[in-house]
Amino acid sequence: MIDIHCHLIHGVDDGPPTLRESLRMTEEAAKAGTKVIIATPHIKGTDFDFDYIFEHLYDLAKAAGEKRRESQAEVPEIKLGSEVAINPILCDQVKKYGALRLADTRYVLVELPFDIIPTFTRDVLYKLRLKDYIPVIAHPERNRQILKTASFYVELIDSGCLMQLDAASILGKNGRAVKSFCKKVIKANMVHFVATDAHSSKSYVQLAVKSRRRVESWAGRDFAEIVFVTNGQKLLRNEEIESCL
Ligand SMILES: [Fe+2]
Repeated sequence: MIDIHCHLIHGVDDGPPTLRESLRMTEEAAKAGTKVIIATPHIKGTDFDFDYIFEHLYDLAKAAGEKRRESQAEVPEIKLGSEVAINPILCDQVKKYGALRLADTRYVLVELPFDIIPTFTRDVLYKLRLKDYIPVIAHPERNRQILKTASFYVELIDSGCLMQLDAASILGKNGRAVKSFCKKVIKANMVHFVATDAHSSKSYVQLAVKSRRRVESWAGRDFAEIVFVTNGQKLLRNEEIESCL
């Protein structure tokens, strides 16, 4: 797996509290076959401290590197990104701060609120596309308006956005309606990534392995390979990803 959405960095937002727990997450990820994790701390508004995030990322990457050398253990490569809450000045922020993009590519992981679709959403996503950034919508299945009116989901893809579903949603951990929505869009091949969105080591393996099996049963092994691996590889190479429509 290439895990493009994961709260891996210790002491940052609601991720693991300690470096030890972050390292444990990388061990669990290795067991699940994850080769690359993009660590995506929540970024909301203008109140963020990249120096603090970079410092913790550096400590984690160093400790993971030592672990790899000492025990020759399989440790996933760690890259930096952000899960950015949509806001009216998002495009300007992305231009200014490279760390808001996924692994230094033109892909941007954008989070919508859970209850509404803000009025400026279309405008902000359009501006990003105009500047050649590619919005990846984080867990759209967890937005109540999208659940009700799937036409907005199609409109987002039509306008050049890519869709990232959470493994937990696919496994029914966010409710039956969310799971059934996931099944529909996966069967229609209208999904581009599945990520763990994990916050701890506890259920990482289960999230990654079981959700992949579920996607295979709904849409076949080839499609599962695309949304768990191939599109992630393309993203890391900053290549174009087909919208599947
Ligand atoms: Fe997240």
